[in-house]
Amino acid sequence: MILAVISVMVACSNAPSTIIDNANNTDVGLSQPAVAMPDSYSADAAMQVLKEGGNAIDAAITAQFVLAVTLPEAGNVGGGGFMTIKFEDSTDFLDYREMAPKSAHRDMYLDQAGNVKPYESLFGAKASGIPGTVAGMWAAHKKYGTLDWERLVAPAVDLAENGFVVHEKLANNIARYISRTQEKGIKSNFSDYFSEAKAGTTFKQPELAETLKAIQQQGKDGFYKGEVATHIVDFMQQNGGLITHDDLQAYKAVWRKPLQLTWQGYELITAPPPSSGGVAVAQWIGMLEAYDATHDLPAQNSTEYIHVMSEIGKRVFADRAEYMGDPDFVSVPVKALTDANYINERAADIQPASISDTPSIKPGLKESEDTTHFSIMDRWGNAVANTTTINLTFGSGLVVTGAGFLLNDEMDDFSAKPGVPNFFGAVGGEANAIEPYKRMLSSMTPTLVTKGDQVVLVTGSPGGTTIISSVAQSLLNALLYDMSAEEAVNSPRFHHQLLPKDTIRMHNGFTEATVNELKAMGYTIDNRRFGDVHLIKRTKEGVEAASEKSGRGKSIVQPY
Ligand code: DON
Repeated sequence: MILAVISVMVACSNAPSTIIDNANNTDVGLSQPAVAMPDSYSADAAMQVLKEGGNAIDAAITAQFVLAVTLPEAGNVGGGGFMTIKFEDSTDFLDYREMAPKSAHRDMYLDQAGNVKPYESLFGAKASGIPGTVAGMWAAHKKYGTLDWERLVAPAVDLAENGFVVHEKLANNIARYISRTQEKGIKSNFSDYFSEAKAGTTFKQPELAETLKAIQQQGKDGFYKGEVATHIVDFMQQNGGLITHDDLQAYKAVWRKPLQLTWQGYELITAPPPSSGGVAVAQWIGMLEAYDATHDLPAQNSTEYIHVMSEIGKRVFADRAEYMGDPDFVSVPVKALTDANYINERAADIQPASISDTPSIKPGLKESEDTTHFSIMDRWGNAVANTTTINLTFGSGLVVTGAGFLLNDEMDDFSAKPGVPNFFGAVGGEANAIEPYKRMLSSMTPTLVTKGDQVVLVTGSPGGTTIISSVAQSLLNALLYDMSAEEAVNSPRFHHQLLPKDTIRMHNGFTEATVNELKAMGYTIDNRRFGDVHLIKRTKEGVEAASEKSGRGKSIVQPY
């Protein structure tokens, strides 16, 4: 059934604008260097590294540090992330997710009556996990880097020291953030650092420049030891935070085996726990395939498609809440959750036209129990999908005095109390309870898809729990519905995550008829936009790269 639909879609799809004709290229192993980035500074800097002969990992390191300067909403040295890698014949996954400080404990956000204290896991120094980014980039460099570390960090130092021109969207985000935190009475030093960043002006960050220089000169020790570490610990002590020198020294980035599975003749290489994203995407596309085996595959973004994908979302998020957490602390049944028989059974009761009763959707196993993303491909066809975060836009809202960078508020990704939703509406229990040095469950899903030996897709997005929908749908758009990279990232998306009951979050851009049909079925529509997908697609005709139009991203494909 799927094949018939694909051939129809091929006939309908428009030629993509970014495609470069490489019909004359005889060496099929080589690729066109390509980047799909959340802003122009990271795109230009990463492409320059590729042009100088750096590989995809070199370019990713440069991009990560540039984004810490030019995309303070989410780019960071004070946060963490995940990097999915295909390098030569091997695949790899770098977990540089934040860890809870040693003195963190499961009830740390509860008041005496056992209720969750509003905002404590979201704003202020107590909301921060131990940052993992610098250790992560250092680990990536040690294992895969080919250019000098100093060279890779240099563009970020330059942009912090000499300034960059502020994009209108960044200026608006800053102004909105300052007025919202003031309205809510949230204590923050954010405006001391960012109020001068007006659209079109050059904005310099001298303290951040010094921090980046320490990192440039001393590698990871420039952050976890010495002056920067002292700034962090002093700041924590003055503001009621928990991170100590011991915590900074204890932080370790971890190399993990990526989650890999076959689907429709492709191999998916994606995020394992402590991300919930890889398992969730596997379940989402797997249940759609199971549905397709017994019904016709619904047309992309039709009412039936949105409804069926929402039904799948309910089942995915019921499992996420029950089983997922840091694999170094809890045993996550990844195999069972992605088993084909389990996925088929789970999809079996999905009805094409009626909504299931929310409380009846339980975790399914029978046994006991402002982020940002970028995608890179180098000339050798190696690829990196990297998602990095300080959690909410501008993280905890606190800048480390003297060190000039924003701290994350990643502690909110733990389950502060069983059954109580976090900022993204996700609930959790034992598996994701707070424990010292544990990593909080994530939805970040940097994903690669290969066919034969070649990477054919690199994708990922920010957006908290909606990341999973953005990744699954961008992948389905590009590969199952055979859209160009541009179409795949800009086609409107939707998200359903079990709770709130029967609510679908939807981009604008769906037809009125579809929205009305969904309402008539009993769905509530939530129109808040989500995600910012940056995707690279490689076909026989060449490489395409695309960044979602709603953001301030930039994609470049280098001709041979
Ligand atoms: O790791 C996670 O799942 C979240 N901390 C990601 C936050 C995020 O995507 C915010 N972006 N809009």
